[in-house]
Amino acid sequence: MQNNLASPIGIFDSGYGGLTVFREIEQLMPNYDYIYLGDNARVPYGNRSFETVHEFTWQCVKKLFKLGCPLVILACNTASAKALRTIQQRDLPDYDSNRRVLGVIRPTTEVIGEYTKTRHVGIFATKGTVLSQSYVIEIEKFFPDIHVHQLACPMWVPLVENNEHLGPGADYFVKKYIDELLNQSPEIDAIILACTHYPLLRDKIQQYLPPHIRLISQGQIVAQKLNDYLKRHTEMEARLSQSGSHQFYTTDDPTDFDQKAALFLGRTISSSHLDLFI
Ligand code: DGL
Repeated sequence: MQNNLASPIGIFDSGYGGLTVFREIEQLMPNYDYIYLGDNARVPYGNRSFETVHEFTWQCVKKLFKLGCPLVILACNTASAKALRTIQQRDLPDYDSNRRVLGVIRPTTEVIGEYTKTRHVGIFATKGTVLSQSYVIEIEKFFPDIHVHQLACPMWVPLVENNEHLGPGADYFVKKYIDELLNQSPEIDAIILACTHYPLLRDKIQQYLPPHIRLISQGQIVAQKLNDYLKRHTEMEARLSQSGSHQFYTTDDPTDFDQKAALFLGRTISSSHLDLFI
């Protein structure tokens, strides 16, 4: 079906982190149109209550719907952990049951069994994601034999958002959190970077991690699962416009967004400010 109006795929994160997912999605599926929205004015979400994360996330998702997106990906673990279920089960049926919102936790937990031999998996995530127990619950559904060891890393998102992730302050906090997680179990042989900001710290984490431990970023997994989803849901696929366009929006300052986004994407972009309440 040929669309006259743009019907892009919406990609949402509390800030820049979702760009690490967007990068992989656009690489795998370059033909679709995309709108990225970062709620930089209110980042981080990681320490906020369930109610607040849900409220903020739903406001952003509705804005992406108004911009024409029939499908929105929450490229944020915290939002996926604390808001996705309420949005899917309560908000969407009331608002528009033909739109879809998907998260990043389920795609990751569906494949985690392929990455571990010892069946001990580590999770680095925000406090909100850890407290939600979403990874523990989802992994149990697919792989009941896997033991999950979680650690909240509250300093990592601020390091990335403030462009300090390559500096010496990052070394201290990377080593500290690795030691704390591995102290929970010496049997961990795979660790999920369960926050979309963390791939920017990947090289440093790898530097301090014992070499036998596999470090898993979610971007490629989520992109592949989205591709599979669209093959299965041809009614949604047919609604999406395909002219390869990208629009970037931030709830904060676009100049700042463009500078930092370049770090995440490895190329320059030009974003616009978005007021959620107009
Ligand atoms: N990027 C978000 C995630 O994946 C978290 C960042 C934040 O704390 O807002 O969990």
